[in-house]
Amino acid sequence: MDRKGLLASFLKLREKYGDVFTVYLGSRPVVMLCGVEAIREALVDQAEAFSGRGKIAIVEPVFQGYGVVFANGDRWKALRRFSLATMRDFGMGKRSVEERIQEEAQCLVEELRKSKGALLDTTFYFQSITANIICSIVFGKRFDYKDPEFLRILDLFYQSFALISSFSSQVFELFSGFLKHFPGIHRQVYKNLQEINDFISHSVEEHRETLDPNAPRDLIDTYLIRMDKEKSDPHTEFHQKNLIINSLSLFFAGTETTSTTLRYGFLLLLKYPHITEKIYKEIEQVIGPHRPPAFDDRVKMPYTDAVLHEIQRFADLIPIGVPHVVTKDTHFRGYFIPKDTEIYPILSSSLHDPRYFEKPDDFNPEHFLDANGALKKNEAFIPFSIGKRICLGEGIARTELFIFFTTILQNFSVASPMAPEDIDLTPREIGVGKVPPTYQIRFLPR
Ligand code: HEM
Repeated sequence: MDRKGLLASFLKLREKYGDVFTVYLGSRPVVMLCGVEAIREALVDQAEAFSGRGKIAIVEPVFQGYGVVFANGDRWKALRRFSLATMRDFGMGKRSVEERIQEEAQCLVEELRKSKGALLDTTFYFQSITANIICSIVFGKRFDYKDPEFLRILDLFYQSFALISSFSSQVFELFSGFLKHFPGIHRQVYKNLQEINDFISHSVEEHRETLDPNAPRDLIDTYLIRMDKEKSDPHTEFHQKNLIINSLSLFFAGTETTSTTLRYGFLLLLKYPHITEKIYKEIEQVIGPHRPPAFDDRVKMPYTDAVLHEIQRFADLIPIGVPHVVTKDTHFRGYFIPKDTEIYPILSSSLHDPRYFEKPDDFNPEHFLDANGALKKNEAFIPFSIGKRICLGEGIARTELFIFFTTILQNFSVASPMAPEDIDLTPREIGVGKVPPTYQIRFLPR
């Protein structure tokens, strides 16, 4: 592996060995799947076998196989079912998740108005809005953008995502057995995530003290009620450890991903003002200046929809996927893969496949438009992965991306202090995650 990291090395190996090959990461064999065909044949056609979850060395000491993202077997099934159902319930009840997203978008517009067109870095704003959607589901409340405890948590997430995606983290992935005994970024990641766990534990205690078993307010209440119901079952998965780590998993997965996509998206809009102009036009024609955008508007706004697809494709947020393992001995494309072997679905190889995208390295919404200007689906577009482990927050993420983008652009035009040709899109980090460069932007009331 050179300084360009694992992704670059894997893509080079693909040129030589084809879509399916094994790489030794340190001493472990890992099977790489490249291109949508190989990924689909594994994750969808042999869904059960490929549904196991592998480890990410740098966060393993925190998650230890607990919580929906890193759990396996019955624990994963129980937590996935619970998390999906609860997220749905706390969406529907009084207010839908969509309404919550619309409200949060209006709060952001108010906050951005206060900036009076000054240059700002969007990182904390975009983290705050995406975190608040998850917080309202998990903790039953949203936080003020100035709340120091909230800002601290967001900073810990941001720092951790950058560290997890760094070159050092990839070296750690290869040699963790040895490196874990020495100081390094793994200790910082551990400290950061433990501090967030302390915050969650504190909130769980507050929930316990004020719990009304007949009127659950949020995911934590629902879990506590379930925990109480199953307290005499020695095999229950509804215990304190899973509660804390599951909440951390949803909080982290739900905040950093969507906010980083928003950040990349606005950088792209600054780089390509003619594309932004077309979105303004579509917003004016379909939504107008007064009513808040709703998710249903999307079907009438194919250009905006295509831009959002292209932002996700170009942002390529989780380039090497989240590691899987095979849950049993498996035959795949003539290979024998023993139970528990790690599998990396290289999502980037699908999102950048020249057989599916004319100019895969360019940002071009035409990739998702047909000759009549209608949205053109593309089966290689798999930013949320596919199969049984498909992103649990896909629906929320897509609703957030549409409503946040359109609400901001309905209210503001965006401007950069740099000429578009000088804007550099090169990511700051590419590892487990891809992190865009930092930049400054103005939001000018329209
Ligand atoms: C643009 C935003 C997002 C992207 C690109 C994204 C992408 C992904 C990917 C690639 C995976 C791994 C799938 C696999 O194992 O093959 C994943 C898993 C997951 N995501 Fe997302 N995600 C996003 C937003 C969210 C949101 C908003 C939430 C929470 C509400 C969320 C919660 C999760 C969870 C819990 C998992 C683990 C699922 C499991 O292991 O069963 N994600 N996501």
